[in-house]
Amino acid sequence: MTIKTATLNGVATIEIARPEKKNAITGEMYRRMADALNAATADNAVRAVLLTGQPGIFTSGNDIEDFMQRPPGNLESPAFVFMKALLGCDKPVIAAVTGAAIGIGTTMLLHCDLVYVSDEARLAMPFVSLGLVPEFASSLIVPQLMGHARAAEKLLLGDPFTGADAVEMGIANAVLPAGEVVPHARRIAERFNALPPGAVRQTKTLLRRARSQAALETIAAEGEIFAQRLQSPEAKEAFSAFFQKRKPDFSKF
Ligand code: COA
Repeated sequence: MTIKTATLNGVATIEIARPEKKNAITGEMYRRMADALNAATADNAVRAVLLTGQPGIFTSGNDIEDFMQRPPGNLESPAFVFMKALLGCDKPVIAAVTGAAIGIGTTMLLHCDLVYVSDEARLAMPFVSLGLVPEFASSLIVPQLMGHARAAEKLLLGDPFTGADAVEMGIANAVLPAGEVVPHARRIAERFNALPPGAVRQTKTLLRRARSQAALETIAAEGEIFAQRLQSPEAKEAFSAFFQKRKPDFSKF
C-alpha cells in the first residue's frame, strides 16, 4: 500500500507510505491522494486533514520513472488532479513533514494551512537541476513569501534548506524533534473539533481568496512548460543521471 488513509477523531490522515522509493509519488498515488482529499472535503465528520510521510522521508517528489513513462500531458493528469483537490479542500490541511521534502514535497506545503517540520528534514525544489521548471504555483508563491532574491536561490539554484529556514521564510509554523512532529500535528488538527466548522471553512477560503485564481492560472502556465520540458534532452540527461547514480552533464546543451 503506497497511500494509507484513516479517519479518526475528526481528522482524515493521508500518509505517503512507499519508503523503499523514498515516498516518490506515482500517478496512481496522486489519484489516491486526490480521492482522499475530495472524500475528506465532502465528509461532515472530518474537521481537518493531516498529511504526512514516513520517518526520515516526507516525499522525494514525483516518481521520476513514472514521469518518464507517463509524462503528465494535460490538466487531467494525476498530478494536476491532486493539485486541484488540495486547492479545493476548504478544511484545514495540516502537514507533518517527517523528513526530506523534495520537489512537490515542498511545493505542496505552500497550499497546506499549518506545517510542522521534523528537525531532520531538508526541503528543496530542484526543478532546474532536473531540466524542469517550478510547479504547483511555486513560481508565484515562493517569491511572494520570501522575495525574489531568496526565491532565486531556492528555484534557480535549487538550494536545499532546513525546517528552521522554512519557518523563517513563512512556509512552516514550527520545527519539532523527529519523533514529535506527527503527534504534534495531530494534536493541532484535533483542535479543529472544538471550533465551529463553518467559520473555519470560510476563514480558510478568505485567507486563500486573494491568490486562489492566480494560483490556478500559474499552475496551468507552469504545467504547459513543465510538460514540454519533460521531453527535453536536458531533462532526459538529468533523469538518466539520477538512475545511473552519476552527476548529470549539461555541458553539451
Ligand atoms: N523517483 C523515483 N525513484 C526515486 C525517487 C524519485 N523521485 N527518489 C528516490 N527514488 C528511489 C531511488 O532510485 C532508489 O531506488 P533503488 O533502491 O531501486 O536504487 C530508492 O528510491 C532510494 O533512493 P536513494 O537515492 O538511494 O536514497 P538516498 O537516501 O541516498 O537519497 C533522496 C534520498 C530523497 C535525497 C534522493 O533519493 C533524491 O534526491 N531523490 C530524487 C529527488 C528529486 O529530484 N525529486 C524531484 C522530482 S520532480
